[in-house]
Amino acid sequence: MKLQNDLLIRTARGERVERPPVWLMRQAGRVLPQYRALRAKLSGFKELVETPQLAAEVTVQPIDEWEVDAAIIFSDILVIPEAMGLTYEMVEKRGPIFPQTIRSRADIEGLLTDDDAAAQLQYVYDALDATKKVLDGRVPLIGFAGAPWTILAYMVEGSGSKTFSRAKHFLYSEPELAHLLLDKITRATTGYLLNKIRHGADLIQLFDSWAGILSPAQYGEFAVPYLHRITAAIATATNTPVTLFAKNAWFALDQLAATDCNVIGLDWNTEPDFARSRVGDKVLQGNLDPCQLYADHEQIVRATGKMIEAFNGRHIVNLGHGLYPDMEVEKVRTFVNTVKNFRYTQK
Ligand code: CP3
Repeated sequence: MKLQNDLLIRTARGERVERPPVWLMRQAGRVLPQYRALRAKLSGFKELVETPQLAAEVTVQPIDEWEVDAAIIFSDILVIPEAMGLTYEMVEKRGPIFPQTIRSRADIEGLLTDDDAAAQLQYVYDALDATKKVLDGRVPLIGFAGAPWTILAYMVEGSGSKTFSRAKHFLYSEPELAHLLLDKITRATTGYLLNKIRHGADLIQLFDSWAGILSPAQYGEFAVPYLHRITAAIATATNTPVTLFAKNAWFALDQLAATDCNVIGLDWNTEPDFARSRVGDKVLQGNLDPCQLYADHEQIVRATGKMIEAFNGRHIVNLGHGLYPDMEVEKVRTFVNTVKNFRYTQK
């Protein structure tokens, strides 16, 4: 189906556009009262993720509410470890927990990968089909996955962590096993993302949320090669654009730019000029400090305008990370409308 609003896709491909597109990480979720109302009727987060019609409903809520330029499929990066054999639980107010973690070669050898893992995620593909129907071509649909290092971090650590020292311990003490696991995650993720594209994902984003806790040398060894493999596999099989969002990995921007990605996402610690000097002509995404949305409306308008001017084209507007649950719907609207009212002056 032809998209009525393809601004995100044109921008991701590097075309010159009238204004930057805008969407927000975690736009579907607890900021919206309509999300909370639906969620309160269910057993938990996983029921929402695993019921395609409900996942579709929640995916489209931010489009109806704010008229952002893209939808992102409601799901989680942790569906991949689950598909490989490690189930997760989403504990209210605590976050994800894995009752079983990876400790040994035997644990890794027991995991599913390739199409065997990707085939476990039919409910995600059904959610994409259902969402495409509801969207009816209004805006592009973003599919996503965790980057291999971030997924390894959860599979070894078993939960969130400030330091992920258990996962880093594994990299330093068992590098060969770490590569074995990263290879399996990469193969499962590639099959999964190609399936998502077959089911209508118009752009893919990889989240490397824990990139910034690795040293540059470790990031180069344990993360970047796998990002190369995934972006190359997608670029070979499709012409779907890919965004890499490696949080706090300012030190690796040149290495990210050397992959087959189209867009590089930035957190709010990275200056637009610095990023541009490292990534050549790749499109950039980001990077307003999410907490800027706690300021008053006038300040949000000013900061958003200043950010757009600082990037000055080849730019997709977003926050530097996700929305927080206590942010106001009306403040988000001010942010989105500021972008939608902006026009580049043609040079
Ligand atoms: O709107 C969207 O961005 C799409 C949906 C989405 C979710 N998770 C839904 C979700 C996306 C893209 C993710 C990605 C994700 N999940 C990441 C990478 C992005 C990032 O934030 O760095 C990570 C690290 C996870 C793992 C995860 N899921 C954690 C650590 C938590 C608990 C923390 C929290 O915010 O509650 C989740 C839960 C989660 N995933 C929620 C949502 C809406 C909250 C669940 C609820 O409704 O209670």
